[in-house]
Amino acid sequence: FAGNNSDFLKGVVAMSGLPSADRIEVCFAGRSNVGKSTLINALTGRTRLARASNTPGRTQEINYFTLADSHYLVDLPGYGYANAPLPVIEKWQRLLKQYLSGRATLRRAFVLVDMRHGIKDVDEEIMSLLDSSAVTFQVVMTKADKVKEKDREKVMAQVREKLSKHPAAFPELVITSSEKGDGIPTLRAIIAGLD
Ligand code: GTP
Ligand code: MG
Repeated sequence: FAGNNSDFLKGVVAMSGLPSADRIEVCFAGRSNVGKSTLINALTGRTRLARASNTPGRTQEINYFTLADSHYLVDLPGYGYANAPLPVIEKWQRLLKQYLSGRATLRRAFVLVDMRHGIKDVDEEIMSLLDSSAVTFQVVMTKADKVKEKDREKVMAQVREKLSKHPAAFPELVITSSEKGDGIPTLRAIIAGLD
């Protein structure tokens, strides 16, 4: 990346609030608590840039962060948070669909999957939405530090099997631990390589 500066730009609640589409953009989707905000902090090297929390559903807006002067990192609200009221969920789903299908500069979506749990039905819903929006997505396994090496292959096999049914899925998985830093340089390189 040219320069290494990152900053919070803005939180967006409607398409009209999106910043001008003048940079390469990647977004981070995944179930509540999977580690999206923590991953953005790890990628930018700033521990408190994106608010991470133990309370699921903490990130409610589409949060824009700048990476260098060339990229936007987009932290999407977590899904699968059962306690949110239905109108809130429906409003969010509408915005998400509009965002995914209408953002020309969106180069890739990273769908985060907890290494302990594998792909759930709600993840498949978002993957189908990405398929139909023709947005290439790549799965990032999170919290690898919580799973022993010998237990990893089983969940990885489940993930690969599920991904084979999604035309927009990028086949290569990235295994990360924001806690330990595993996979962060790899993910940075992937993002830097998009154009
Ligand atoms: P929402 O904003 O609610 O959708 O959640 P989120 O996906 O942004 O999750 P967040 O980054 O807030 O992380 C949730 C919890 O998981 C926090 O307590 C993090 O510290 C923890 N966590 C995130 N990544 C890792 C990791 O790689 N390893 C471990 N052990 N914990 C992690
Ligand atoms: Mg978050």
